[in-house]
Amino acid sequence: AIDANFETNRERVEVDDDAFADDVAVWGPYDPPEKQGIHGTHVAVDFDICLADGACLEDCPVDVFTWVDTPGHPESEIKAEPTHEDQCIDCMLCVDVCPVDAIDVDPG
Ligand code: SF4
Ligand code: F3S
Repeated sequence: AIDANFETNRERVEVDDDAFADDVAVWGPYDPPEKQGIHGTHVAVDFDICLADGACLEDCPVDVFTWVDTPGHPESEIKAEPTHEDQCIDCMLCVDVCPVDAIDVDPG
């Protein structure tokens, strides 16, 4: 499962990849294609756990997630980027439906 303390245990890295949303943070280690990091802060997705199930995209009532390409990643070659994490209403549905516990939402 995603480490809910990623903000303490990981460091933010600068990633210059047009595939990803500009204002979504990436928490390392980031070493593509195998290591893609945790994407997002309020709504965080561990890209190294996500296997592109898609339930989060289907169920989020405010469409926080969009697919992004991660070619060559061993789990899946697309991932759920929390592109619109600022729209999140903290319903926690995505956390509940993800089959591999790749998502952490911090209602703060
Ligand atoms: Fe969407 Fe709810 Fe998850 Fe926020 S907690 S990203 S609103 S499904
Ligand atoms: Fe990935 Fe889980 Fe969503 S596997 S696509 S974060 S439901």
